This record gives sequence, C-alpha cells and structure tokens, in this order.
Amino acid sequence: MMAGSHNTARIIGVIGASGSGKSSWLKRTLGKGNPPKLLIWDPMDEYEQGRVITDMRELVDAVGALEADDPFKLVYRPGANLKTYPDKFEAFCSLAFLVPNLCVLIEELADVTTPGWAPPAWSRLSRQGRHKGMTIFAASQRPTLMDKTFLGNTTMIHCSRLNDENDVKTMRRYLGVSEDQVRGMVADKDIPRFDYIERDMQTGKTVTGRLT
Ligand SMILES: Nc1ncnc2c1ncn2[C@@H]1O[C@H](COP(=O)(O)OP(=O)(O)OP(=O)(O)O)[C@@H](O)[C@H]1O
Ligand SMILES: [Mg+2]
Repeated sequence: MMAGSHNTARIIGVIGASGSGKSSWLKRTLGKGNPPKLLIWDPMDEYEQGRVITDMRELVDAVGALEADDPFKLVYRPGANLKTYPDKFEAFCSLAFLVPNLCVLIEELADVTTPGWAPPAWSRLSRQGRHKGMTIFAASQRPTLMDKTFLGNTTMIHCSRLNDENDVKTMRRYLGVSEDQVRGMVADKDIPRFDYIERDMQTGKTVTGRLT
C-alpha cells in the first residue's frame, strides 16, 4: 500500500509554511510509493506525475472510462480562479469517492475548506475513504485553516517549519512534542533546512527527519 514513512499511513495531513518542503516531500513520497491509482488536485500547476487535465468534464470522462483494475495517474488543475473552486472541488471529491483503492492528493486544502466547514463530498472522503481502501494526502500551510474533521481523522501527520506561533501551539498538540521542537525547524543562518516531524497517530510514535 501507499505509505509515507509509516506503512500504515492512510490519511496523511501535510502541514508547514510556504517553502517548508511540503510539496517536495509529497512528490518524493509518491515517487517511492508509486500508487497504482493516483488522482491529484493541483492548484499550483506543479505536478507532472500523470496526465494533466484542466477541464472537469474531461476528468469525469477519463475516470468514467476506466475499468475497475486499470492503473492510472491523473493530475487535475483547477486553474487560477478561486471562485470556481467550490464546485470543482465538490465534483473532484465525488469522483474520487467512486474509485476503490485510490490514492488522492489535495494541495492547499485551505483553499477549499475552513476550520468549521468542509465541502460535503470532501467530508465524506475523509470520513469514509478508509473503507474504500483510499489513501488521502492533504497539504496546508496552516493547520488552523484546515477542517477539523480531516485533521482529527489523520492516521499520520507530516509537519515542517511553521512561522506562526499559534500554528506552533496547534501542531505541538497534534504531534505530542514540545513547542520548542516544533519551533526548532528553522533555517541555519541563511541556509534553508527542510526539517520535519511526523507522528503516526495510531501508535503515537514520532519521528523527525530532514529532506536533503
Ligand atoms: N533539500 C530540499 N528539500 C526540499 N526542497 C528543497 C530542497 N532544496 C531546495 N528546495 C526547494 O525549496 C522549495 C521547497 O518548497 P516546496 O514547494 O516543497 O514547499 P511547500 O511547503 O510546498 O510550499 P508552498 O506552501 O508554498 O507550496 C522548493 O523550491 C524546492 O525546490
Ligand atoms: Mg507546495
């Protein structure tokens, strides 16, 4: 199965400030895990791990044309207009729900959710995806902007540098480490570092690492 640094990871929250290495880690993790069925929500136009699609109807057709066990990699780019995201994201998540054993990756979840509200189809994915053999990765620059149901259901959290003190406090609670450990993921002088802390939410085991 698809995994991060932990084999059991199925719902993975990826949190860290802009430029802290979230997308770099996600791309590496996908490269290593090579999930047979992959669907990516790519608002920054930065993934090239599969067929790139910008039209929702084309995405629906592409998924509809698949046979049950067909492997595929699809990258959906919703474009620059945030106002169009709610409808597109709802359609994207509804589509994802139809595909068993899918690995789905959402970049910048906070574009489409708020702490107290998640789009219904996304909420269903994060509540019921596990029963469909789904692996869900979702990234956000700030934990406070992600919906709480998703964060509360994660099986693994991958956290890189945070700049905001409130975010440090939030993440130390999720990670079960000291505030200083979270705060410590900063650059050495002017040389950026790509430190992270990961917690397996099922075992409570925490590991630290650094992208090189
Ligand atoms: N060792 C390294 N590990 C990861 N990224 C590196 C490394 N060295 C340089 N970089 C660069 O640093 C940047 C890390 O940014 P990345 O896109 O992974 O951050 P991000 O957390 O996804 O940010 P954003 O929230 O803005 O999308 C990239 O431009 C990447 O190429
Ligand atoms: Mg990124």
